[in-house]
Amino acid sequence: MNFQQLFAKPPEAEASAPGRVNLLGEHTDYNDGFVLPTVIPQRTTVQVGFSTDGQHHFYSENLDERVDILEIKYTPSGFTSYIFGCIQVLQQKGHTIPSLNLYVKSSVPIGSGLSSSAALEVATLRALRQLLNLAIDDVEIAQFAQQAEIHYAGVQCGIMDQMAASLGDTEHILFLDSRTLERRMLPFPSGAEIVVIDSGIPRTLASSGYNHRRTECQEAARLLKVKALRDVTNSSAVKALPEPLQRRAHHVVTENNRVLEVLHGVSSEHFGKLMNASHASLRDNYEVSVPALDTLVEMLQKTLGVFGAKLTGAGFGGACVALVAAGEGKNIATKVLEQYNNLGNTGRVLIPAGI
Ligand code: GLA
Repeated sequence: MNFQQLFAKPPEAEASAPGRVNLLGEHTDYNDGFVLPTVIPQRTTVQVGFSTDGQHHFYSENLDERVDILEIKYTPSGFTSYIFGCIQVLQQKGHTIPSLNLYVKSSVPIGSGLSSSAALEVATLRALRQLLNLAIDDVEIAQFAQQAEIHYAGVQCGIMDQMAASLGDTEHILFLDSRTLERRMLPFPSGAEIVVIDSGIPRTLASSGYNHRRTECQEAARLLKVKALRDVTNSSAVKALPEPLQRRAHHVVTENNRVLEVLHGVSSEHFGKLMNASHASLRDNYEVSVPALDTLVEMLQKTLGVFGAKLTGAGFGGACVALVAAGEGKNIATKVLEQYNNLGNTGRVLIPAGI
């Protein structure tokens, strides 16, 4: 069922936003640190129009779910919580939002760690900006989207995903300083492309585990008497911390340094080594990997033509990303997926698309 069939008139505005994959700089953004995401070809599209019956009507094509809301007094759950969050944040900023008909369709995989929620938030805010001629820029869109996620979806996330969805493109890696929001569009390392494989393990405990890590980092920063772990640049400074804070902080400090190394321009081989080191640290120090992801990453790392591989996003399940020799992505992804699924897993290749 399309917008016209559902609401008996065509949409008045339409916008879309992509999912993202993070190449390096994991769990650093909420520590005011540095990240290196790029966006994926899969996108979420939001169509909107004015509702004439005083109610909001939200529809998800993927879920075939319709939600009608007369007066939003509570936070709805599921896909509507992100849309509701965006509307609430806009209202708090002084914008008047009328009753809406809103239709969502998406090719961004849900629950794989590729930020389908940020894509939905940014697409919703872009569509509302267009419909209502709102004077908000792309950075504000990312900031409002992050507020929606924190206050209405309950994940104390950083700003990486929303900045990537709002400002990234598929041709570049976005270097972002999460404290100052300074950013640069970097080229991909020469002779390389990316492969993304979903482990098939749902991201259970992602939000509670994620929020817990965030609290641990705040506690580590407090003990080290710095505003955020970003302010610690020498990893030996964390040795005075009790465990597990020491390992958490060690991850953040070394991960920030890995991202900064890339800024100086590195070969694909070197970039890959930094990704491998990132995964090891996410597994051993930050403890956000799961055995199936470790298996998949290891298989990728052992495959000829792969420069490096790591889990991507928050972890606790979801997908991993590999940097591989240009032109080899399809072969490598097919081969590794077969090997991985032969162990009884239910992985799938997300990039390159169409495998
Ligand atoms: C999730 C969050 C991001 C970031 C990553 C981990 O995707 O939304 O802000 O913290 O996890 O790097």
